[in-house]
Amino acid sequence: MDAISVIRTKRDRGELTPEQIDWVIDAYTRGEVADEQMSALAMAILLNGMNRTEIARWTAAMIASGERMNFDALSRPTTDKHSTGGVGDKITLPLAPLVAACGAAVPQLSGRGLGHTGGTLDKLESIPGWRAHLTNAEMLNVLDTTGAVICAAGDGLAPADKKLYALRDVTGTVEAIPLIASSIMSKKIAEGTGALVLDVKVGSGAFMKTIEDARELASTMVALGTDSGVRTVALLTDMSTPLGLTAGNALEVRESVEVLAGGGPRDVIDLTLALAREMLDAAGLKDADPEKALSDGSAMDVWRRMISAQGGDPDATLPTAREQHVVTAPASGVLTRLDAYDVGVAAWRLGAGRARKEDPVQAGAGVELHAKPGDTVTEGQPLMTLHTDTPEKFDYALKALPESYDIAPAGTSFSPLPVVRERIA
Ligand code: URA
Repeated sequence: MDAISVIRTKRDRGELTPEQIDWVIDAYTRGEVADEQMSALAMAILLNGMNRTEIARWTAAMIASGERMNFDALSRPTTDKHSTGGVGDKITLPLAPLVAACGAAVPQLSGRGLGHTGGTLDKLESIPGWRAHLTNAEMLNVLDTTGAVICAAGDGLAPADKKLYALRDVTGTVEAIPLIASSIMSKKIAEGTGALVLDVKVGSGAFMKTIEDARELASTMVALGTDSGVRTVALLTDMSTPLGLTAGNALEVRESVEVLAGGGPRDVIDLTLALAREMLDAAGLKDADPEKALSDGSAMDVWRRMISAQGGDPDATLPTAREQHVVTAPASGVLTRLDAYDVGVAAWRLGAGRARKEDPVQAGAGVELHAKPGDTVTEGQPLMTLHTDTPEKFDYALKALPESYDIAPAGTSFSPLPVVRERIA
């Protein structure tokens, strides 16, 4: 077997054999296939696709590149959620403790932000003392004692994906549906969850810009999960506008705590509850009442225990940025569009995100929204506040925003898209 013949097969629109797939993933993980060869293969896959049989084998080969976790010793059923990433998507923070408060165990292996989308670990690291990196034994202990754990995936889990994802990120090959589906599902299947709910984002702030592409990605991932014995459901959810009223690390933690305290923006509450119901259903806990667990404080209790168990202080004051800049409405009327991608880019440029994996992020940086599509605004009122420790970044962030919203004349009728657009099982 050699890399060139595998690349040629896909370049010429052929179907990769199981042997070719097993060999190329294993050889790439061991360093025998070079980055430039894997880049060529990833580009051929992006351009020419893979069928479901190839995707299933590719996923299995990535799982086989590392260890598989096992939660059989836990007394509760395990259920997990994965989002394909968006702007202001802090849902994991209230969701994991909420589902745990309803009787499930939630092993949430999360990632960091890259580009305009935020990362759950970066958000939680704005809580003083909180640790993202746990050993497998520590992770199991937090999960067992609190019902939920949010932490970094260990190096042993799907190492082929770690290497390949970093390569795709710098070779323009992230947006290939077969590669996204196998990347996400290899980690989730190796993680060993019994049930999985996928939040597939669609819209300007998501990888999938159209509902057709989101459907294709969702049904590919649902098939991969189901065929591997993981009860898998996907919701296609709106990412044309940011979720909630904040995009940025500590800003999003603050908003998540508001939701756990019984407040917070309607769209964040609705999506948290919709995903919680799906996760509990998939775990066989059909009688659980997540709305009650949110309003009676039991989800907040799990949050506090979970944060403390990972060294964080749930009562600590969250960091705030040193400088603010307010963007005001240039006219009165109805806000009919507020673009998720543009707000995400502005938050990233303010310091909330990173351009390279090794870059630090600012805990307090980001964008706070004062209006959402459908709201009536008055000329001169604040539309958004930009936060950063490095005010020289304001100009660059503002350059992302002039085309980011539309204000229609007062009285224009407007109905926002529903948060959950479709369900695929
Ligand atoms: N998230 C992943 O884990 N992998 C991808 O390829 C895209 C998003």
